[in-house]
Amino acid sequence: MAPFFGRDIISLRDMTVDDLWKIVETAGRVKKGDYGNFLESKSFATLFFEPSTRTRLSFESSILQKGGRVFGFANPKGSSQSKGETFADTVRTVEGYCNVLIIRHPVEGAARLASKVVSIPVVNAGDGANQHPTQTFLDLFTMHEQMERLEGLSIGMMGDLKYGRTVHSLAHAMAMFRGRMTFISPPSLQMPEEIKKELLTAGIEFSEVSEPEQAAGDELDVLYVTRIQRERFGDPQEYEVVAHSYRVIPETVGMLGGQVRIMHPLPRVDEIDERVDGMENAIYFQQAHNAIPTRQALLGLVTGALE
Ligand code: CP
Repeated sequence: MAPFFGRDIISLRDMTVDDLWKIVETAGRVKKGDYGNFLESKSFATLFFEPSTRTRLSFESSILQKGGRVFGFANPKGSSQSKGETFADTVRTVEGYCNVLIIRHPVEGAARLASKVVSIPVVNAGDGANQHPTQTFLDLFTMHEQMERLEGLSIGMMGDLKYGRTVHSLAHAMAMFRGRMTFISPPSLQMPEEIKKELLTAGIEFSEVSEPEQAAGDELDVLYVTRIQRERFGDPQEYEVVAHSYRVIPETVGMLGGQVRIMHPLPRVDEIDERVDGMENAIYFQQAHNAIPTRQALLGLVTGALE
């Protein structure tokens, strides 16, 4: 049985290193053009209860480019949730209209809940501050494309490590590849204790610092920058205390050894100076574009169109 066929994609905690390699290798073949319209005859629903540019549009573009059909909503105000319908009733209804549900929701655990009430595959496109697995798949694909390896990379994760779901998923993945991690954040936005405990239990080394200068000796392969997640702060004043904490400038790249790749899941606010965009080190737009082969590969595997 193909390991992905019919499977829910909810959290990196559910995945193995073989699963991650399968996605990266399949995405590589898809990017080379090895397959045709493999999503023909498949229908997908994108239910986005929270804003998105990259995730929703790259899923939709991925599906259309491979001959599939896609429908959904980008704003729950246009759905019957605004009339009081429960999330569970919404997903149980839409289950009857498609082969796969792709869900983004502000509540942690929403995608897992959906997977319990429907029998078709559910793909988590980001649930609150918890997980964003498909972002991690394209992050890994991009790192592999750039460095031709995933094992033992040295990665600095900088910014909002408390609320940033992309770095939560990425930390789990880097642990599977025995990476070295440096967490760079204000003290109030450190990586959650639960994740740090999981890393320690797995025997994974990490360090925590508050300034990128403190990572200068770590020979980072990647500096993975994240936005401070304004929408997750209950108190706007708390956000203002940490907003604009970091700004990557061309000198930051030099200070980190000159070879470091700068990645960012995007959107950015002001944490990477636009002068960095033209540097060879800046790979965040390539990273965003790699969403297409990576998400095509994943959907092909989950629907059984690819093995
Ligand atoms: N990286 C990412 O999730 O971006 P969007 O919020 O625009 O989908």
